[in-house]
Amino acid sequence: MRKINPFKPTAGAEPPVLAGRDTVLDDFEIGIEEGIGAPGRLMRITGPRGSGKTVLLTELGDIARRHGWRVVDVTAAEHLPEMICRRLEKTDALDYSVELDLMVVKAKAQKEEPHRHEDVYEVLSRVTGKLTEKDKGLLVTIDEIQDASVEDVREIAVAIQHLIRERRNIALVFAGLTAGVMNLLGEDGPTFLRRAYPEELDTIPVDEVEAALKATFEKSGVCIGMDALATAADSTAGYAYLIQLVGYYVWRAAQVRTGGELDAISMEDVERGIVSARREFERTVLETAIAHLPKMAMEYLLAMTKDKRASSTGEIANRLGVPASSLSTTRKLLVSRQVIEPTARGYVDFSIPFMREYLTKNREALLARYGVEG
Ligand SMILES: Nc1ncnc2c1ncn2[C@@H]1O[C@H](COP(=O)(O)OP(=O)(O)OP(=O)(O)O)[C@@H](O)[C@H]1O
Ligand SMILES: [Mg+2]
Repeated sequence: MRKINPFKPTAGAEPPVLAGRDTVLDDFEIGIEEGIGAPGRLMRITGPRGSGKTVLLTELGDIARRHGWRVVDVTAAEHLPEMICRRLEKTDALDYSVELDLMVVKAKAQKEEPHRHEDVYEVLSRVTGKLTEKDKGLLVTIDEIQDASVEDVREIAVAIQHLIRERRNIALVFAGLTAGVMNLLGEDGPTFLRRAYPEELDTIPVDEVEAALKATFEKSGVCIGMDALATAADSTAGYAYLIQLVGYYVWRAAQVRTGGELDAISMEDVERGIVSARREFERTVLETAIAHLPKMAMEYLLAMTKDKRASSTGEIANRLGVPASSLSTTRKLLVSRQVIEPTARGYVDFSIPFMREYLTKNREALLARYGVEG
């Protein structure tokens, strides 16, 4: 029988083996066990697109559930506090339907009606009150928090801070793009959230990538040699999405070669797989990020490729032969499109791995789109 490809190169999809997250999972679990005030109960996860933020929220939710906690997952949008309240009320109704027969549910639902006008603090207080009595708790996860308004985030932060003071079992984990989250928690952001335990999802160490790839292949009864494994792991640059992409296409190359009876991965499969994975990554991530940019924005990015690391915004203006002040709209556009991010005052860097290499390699073709010779 044909073996199923175990890799999951899809946004939000749980990977077959989670690489490089042991410490953060342990810290969170300790936070649940240690009780009120433990640092793991208030956590912020930041990282670029495809670094594994959503997957990590799901894993933390699983840990909380294993400890009998309730979990409410939301993705930031307008009216975030109301969304949290609605979700909690819906699951409340579901819980009752398990416990009670339909008549009682109806009666309860009617009784619950006045809660409609409760604010987020009141709803969280009611829910965590009941849970804390039973020695359980509530985990709230917020994904894509950079898209929330400061007011909404402050309202939720104030409510949770109060509940912690009231000794309720509550945990909050929020995730978002690094620059966006820093912006949100910046000068007028809620101080309480600025002190959240920070987990920046930068590159996963190559030995942990190797271990995850090896374990994934072996779980499916497929072996892979040390050299092939090292080459595959190296090509991911420790970037979560690429771990799945490389694994997926290496598997596929091997399947094509063997015609279905897959039991081992060769170096040739790895080399072919890496080429396909890189092509897919360029198409879905890099090309999507820079499609339809104005000409000046493209020139700005190409000027950045001269640096090996973060670029000085003043130096970029020099290279383009224009005053620095004339580039602020372009810079803002590129930051809002998540192609670049500020790393310090007056410095920017690419937010996506391999963007620099991609731009350098395709410089002429990219400029030709704007009728410019490279
Ligand atoms: N620790 C990990 N080990 C291996 N693969 C992972 C890990 N974390 C995430 N992945 C894989 O990486 C891909 C991206 O994960 P995820 O959607 O969680 O990223 P994200 O940071 O939320 O991205 P976005 O900013 O686009 O929402 C998925 O294919 C997922 O299976
Ligand atoms: Mg995500």
